[in-house]
Amino acid sequence: MSQRLDTGREKRAWRVDFVLIPTLYLWGHLFLDTPFTDRRKPSEYIAAILELSALVSKRHQQFFLYIDFLYYLTHDGQRFRRACRLVHDFTDAVIQERRRTLPSQGVDDFLQAKAKSKTLDFIDVLLLSKDEDGKKLSDEDIRAEADTFMFEGHDTTASGLSWVLYHLAKHPEYQERCRQEVQELLKDREPKEIEWDDLAQLRFLTMCIKESLRLHPPVPAISRCCTQDIVLPDGRVIPKGVICHISVLGTHHNPVVWPDPEVYDPFRFDPENIKERSPLAFIPFSAGPRNCIGQAFAMAEMKVVLALMLLRFRVLPDHTEPRRKPELVLRAEGGLWLRVEPLN
Ligand code: HEM
Repeated sequence: MSQRLDTGREKRAWRVDFVLIPTLYLWGHLFLDTPFTDRRKPSEYIAAILELSALVSKRHQQFFLYIDFLYYLTHDGQRFRRACRLVHDFTDAVIQERRRTLPSQGVDDFLQAKAKSKTLDFIDVLLLSKDEDGKKLSDEDIRAEADTFMFEGHDTTASGLSWVLYHLAKHPEYQERCRQEVQELLKDREPKEIEWDDLAQLRFLTMCIKESLRLHPPVPAISRCCTQDIVLPDGRVIPKGVICHISVLGTHHNPVVWPDPEVYDPFRFDPENIKERSPLAFIPFSAGPRNCIGQAFAMAEMKVVLALMLLRFRVLPDHTEPRRKPELVLRAEGGLWLRVEPLN
């Protein structure tokens, strides 16, 4: 993305939610060791993921289409099937390819070589995993895990990143403070030398990311099926078996907990100000036993991408104000556009 932005010196508007493309590219490498695509154009895989996300949200709003039989008779149902097949075929191909290469080497040698070069991929971990009875995962299990990670991992982070960039564009004073924090941290070091341990030093940048996740949570709603009767504080009961939809977006805009909820104020996440707040007031990564297992990674990824971007570019708002478009992942109607100016 940096290369693409560097090519234009003037402040041009860019669709920043397309940072999706490099994050997926990164994911492809991290998890599947697969160079997904020419960075310049979204691959069919990305297009299929986006289509699936839009189709699932659309289906949620059409009660009678909850019945699979009816849904698959519709045009959308057929598109859904096609996109699912494409995503599954893609992951299957990667698994088969990997399976072919694995047995040719001793597993221990293979793991050692990979661990040494720090390139042990998620797909390798899955392929080599065994359950408590020593049984390997089936291809279907591996595909399910890989698809879950790919789906949960890249689109959410791309949404999170684009909305932080939007808020920093709207608040140049916060943007400048973040940039100074990164410059101060790296001092005489090259940007590529940024280390995992450095990230904890980016305190203000972290506050800015969290405030953005509050105002624009990438996963705007989650669902849970009650496994037992739940008694609410006022005595009413949600019976066992009921599926509850929990609005993360709504929780983050509750004016009782968040005064002036629409105002972007990173200082809400100053350690001094979080003491009095319930941990359940801020749930971008959900909560409880099925919360996001990738949250530490997601925060690290967002900090690194933002730090590197802020060192090289200034972001400015575009003329049109984006409107939230909640799908499975929170997007902007017509995409999120910002003007980007290379520094120096
Ligand atoms: C800003 C980025 C992210 C956000 C906002 C986010 C948010 C969430 C949320 C809200 C859930 C719970 C969904 C539910 O209850 O229905 C979830 C689950 C999950 N996330 Fe993330 N996520 C992010 C990034 C990631 C990353 C980078 C990974 C992988 C490394 C990841 C892996 C997962 C997985 C595997 C689950 C399912 C966990 C389970 O069902 O037990 N997520 N995420």
